[in-house]
Amino acid sequence: MSVREIRRAATDVLTTAGVETPDVDATLLLAHVVGRTVGELVLVDDLTDDQLSRFHELVRRRATREPLQHIVGRVQFGSVEVEVGPGVFIPRMETELLWSWGCEVLAAVADPVVADLCSGSGALALALADSVAGSTVHAVELDPDALTWLRRNVSHLPQRVRDRVVVHQGDVRDPRILAGVSADLVVANPPYIPIGADLPVEVAEHDPVLALFGGDDGMSVITPMIETIARVLVPGGAVAIEHDDTTGALVMAALDTSGDFEGISQMKDLSGRARFVSARRAKMKP
Ligand SMILES: C[S@@+](CC[C@H](N)C(=O)[O-])C[C@H]1O[C@@H](n2cnc3c(N)ncnc32)[C@H](O)[C@@H]1O
Repeated sequence: MSVREIRRAATDVLTTAGVETPDVDATLLLAHVVGRTVGELVLVDDLTDDQLSRFHELVRRRATREPLQHIVGRVQFGSVEVEVGPGVFIPRMETELLWSWGCEVLAAVADPVVADLCSGSGALALALADSVAGSTVHAVELDPDALTWLRRNVSHLPQRVRDRVVVHQGDVRDPRILAGVSADLVVANPPYIPIGADLPVEVAEHDPVLALFGGDDGMSVITPMIETIARVLVPGGAVAIEHDDTTGALVMAALDTSGDFEGISQMKDLSGRARFVSARRAKMKP
């Protein structure tokens, strides 16, 4: 069989298994097995027996709906790559919007301080630390399993970035968390899915429950976390909170109700989908 036929057969297996993007996944698994980029696959005209049996094994795992990212063990996020696996939330491409927005916000701030609340693998924290020169980034995470991944990812950073990331184990709703920290930017991708939402197998069975659900309305972490954000941000400092498709108005209302924020805005992606809410710490209580 040619490499093309091998890939097509794998795509068929993944299609039958209900994988959402079977062709992409088959291609990425093949690239992983041969140690090439997707673009370089055109240069590969044969697989060794070992590569072929590894590829079949990985396709078999993907066909059980094990996430592709767990199989290859890593995810590219913004300017960094993070390791992921069981026990930690897989960073999503849409969250890169918070990273790029954060980089823009900080462009005019010298040596900024950032807090990443609900940090998981550390994707946002690490990408911001890597992209924003002179920044210090505080990453807060509650789950001990996720913290293990977070600390491992920090340890793999080049030292010039690693030295500027501070990991905190704790609850973002705790009034003592980040005591003494004054941040120019807070980003948060908290658990926000309303309980009962229908989820793909990859998410329901492999992302940690603590990473996913935000109570009946998706707000059980976000609402109390807002007090922490108001306490930590300097006057004029910026915040971005990712949310469920259905809860943008609730997040805006929660920020508004606190009375501590201004310029509360619904931010959308290029397809017009509401992704996160941004705001600035009010300079004085209105
Ligand atoms: C949706 S994941 C996001 C992870 C990461 N920021 C990202 O974008 O990939 C939410 C994370 O929040 C953590 N978490 C949940 N409740 C928390 C809390 N009360 N305090 C701190 N972290 C919490 C979960 O363990 C999980 O790692």
